[in-house]
Formats: sequence, structure tokens, C-alpha cells
Amino acid sequence: MSFSILGTGKAVPEYILSNDKLSTMVETTDEWIRTRTGIHNRRIITTETMTELCVSAAKQALEDAEITAGDLDLIICATMKGMYITPSEACVIQKELGASCPAFDVNAACSGFIYAMDVADGFFARGKIKHALIVAFDNLSNMVDWNDRSTCVLFGDGGGAVVLGEGDGLKSIFLTARGNTDVLYAPRGELTSPFETHKGERPVLHMIGQEVYKFAVTNMVRGVRKVVKDAGLEQKDITHMIPHQANIRIIEAAAAKLDIPKENYVINISEYGNTSAGCIPLALDEINKAGKLKKGDYIGMCAFGAGLTTGSCIIQWNK
Ligand code: ACO
Repeated sequence: MSFSILGTGKAVPEYILSNDKLSTMVETTDEWIRTRTGIHNRRIITTETMTELCVSAAKQALEDAEITAGDLDLIICATMKGMYITPSEACVIQKELGASCPAFDVNAACSGFIYAMDVADGFFARGKIKHALIVAFDNLSNMVDWNDRSTCVLFGDGGGAVVLGEGDGLKSIFLTARGNTDVLYAPRGELTSPFETHKGERPVLHMIGQEVYKFAVTNMVRGVRKVVKDAGLEQKDITHMIPHQANIRIIEAAAAKLDIPKENYVINISEYGNTSAGCIPLALDEINKAGKLKKGDYIGMCAFGAGLTTGSCIIQWNK
């Protein structure tokens, strides 16, 4: 027994940071950002907290699933950096929801949501749980260097949540990681012991964009082909393809090598930029709430991120 998705939710901060506004902060232009990335706006946390947004997405997903926090047997939060070093963000969310079940975080960068679903699948397969909540949220505005135009224009804050219940919605899932700390990373920064202080690199996101680009296109194509085959489907059967929203050019380059109809891609990068682990559940909630999902539809998901990690899966919509 595995899971089906019973409900979805999303949460983004209110503040909209446009390309034009960014152009007053670093040397860039709306035209450069739009043509190189497809991003027009991104949301940035100002007055809200990450936890408030995570809890809002979780409550929407519970309501959509028609269950209560008391019915949850597991909470996983996919994030690189919660409000505390410890406890996990999942435990902080649990406290706010009033749930009483195991809770922990998964850090697989932008692939975190798909990693979390694979972890949850194990709990369902062992018959240990009937309902799980996954919240995927990253607060990247808190990690990027706002003086570095090559990274700060790409990211935004936001995320989503799903409630999973026993079912056969998960058709295939495939994770990879390749142990790379050079092309995409954020160091912890200064470390101290009682005896000395180790000066580290600045604790901001570092990225060799073109290396990530090549990795992303190759591995999105590989991952999608594999999970479609493992599910016993053909690419044309995928009614909604939700790729990680890092760069429209990455999505288009991967799509050109796949046979999924172009109109089946779910793309909202122009409004949110790259929200890391949050991208896929955020987009999923938008098509769910817009009434675009029909029972039996096949949803493809595919992400890549620091690690370098990738995650791909096929889910049948059973609601
Ligand atoms: N505005 C204006 N000019 C800029 C900007 C900017 N915001 N950023 C870079 N430039 C300049 C560069 O300095 C360079 O100038 P030069 O030619 O004088 O040296 C020029 O634009 C071209 O830069 P490139 O890096 O070659 O631009 P490219 O077309 O590769 O696009 C980008 C850069 C958008 C970063 C692209 O490589 C990309 O999307 N890579 C993947 C990034 C990604 O997916 N990251 C998310 C990973 S997910 C996670 O885990 C967090």
C-alpha cells in the first residue's frame, strides 16, 4: 500500500519584488531577467514568518483533505533551513497545528518535496501510517547575497503542502544525488569551538549557473523518461507536468527532448521565481484549486537542486 494525495495548500508572502524594483538594488534590468530566466516577480518574506506561511499551507491541505491535525500520523517538512537549527521546522509546524505524531525535516534542496514523498511512501508501505502531511518551503531570501546579481534575481520565498492518505496514487518515484559541493552550495559560515574560531566562507548561496543549467536539463530528461517507463506509461499520458521552476530556459530545453505535450507543462515561474523545495507543491495547489485536475489524471513531477540532487515521480490524481 502506498499513498494518494488527498489535499493541497500553498503559501506565499504578500510582498511582491518586481524585476524593476530589483533593478534599483543591483545592476540588472527587467529585460535581462525576463529573457534569461522567465521571471517577472518573486515574493519575499517581510512581516510574516516562515512558520506562519508553512502552517497556513498545511491548514489548507488538511481542509482540502477533509481531515484534522489529530488524524496525522507523520509530518515531514522539506526545507534547507527552518526557523530553528533545532527543533526541526516539522516539529514547529506540529506545535502550531496541535498534532501529535512523529515529525522531522528532510533537506534535499530543491528536490526536497519529492525526497519527502519517497520517505513517506516507506511509512505507508510498512503499514505504519494512514495519513501524512508534507510541507515544502524555503526562505531563500534569507540565504542569497542581495549584492550578487547572478543569484539574487533567481529566487523567491514560498511553498506548499500536501496531505497524503493510503492509496495507489504514487506510480513511480526516482531519486538521485551526486555528492557535489562546488557548483551549488551555501556554507554555514563561521564555526566556533571553545578554543578557536574557524572563519568560513560567507553563509550565502554560491552557484556556477551554467554548470547547474547543464546538470538540470540532462537529469530532468533522464528522470522523467525513467519514471514514465517505470509507471508503465507513455510520455503523452502525462496530463500535467510540473517541473522545478528554476529557469524557463531549462524547462524549455528539457521539454524539447521529451514527448510530453507542451501545453501540459505547469509553469508559474514568472510570478514566484525559484522557491526551491516549495516550487512543485505550490504549482500543484494552483492547478488543484483552479479545478484543472480530473480523477485519473497522471501528474509528472521533476526537480533538481544542490547536492546535486534530483527527484522525479508520477502520481495519479485520485480525488
Ligand atoms: N543582470 C544583468 N546581467 C547579469 C545578471 C543580471 N542579473 N547576472 C549575470 N549577468 C551577466 C554576467 O555577469 C555575464 O556578463 P559577462 O558576459 O560580461 O561576463 C552575462 O550576464 C552572462 O552571464 P551567464 O552566467 O553566462 O548567463 P546565463 O545565460 O548562463 O544565465 C543563469 C545565468 C540564469 C544563472 C543560468 O545559468 C541558469 O539559470 N542556471 C541554472 C540556475 C539554477 O537553476 N539554479 C537553481 C538551482 S536550485 C537550488 O538548489 C537552489
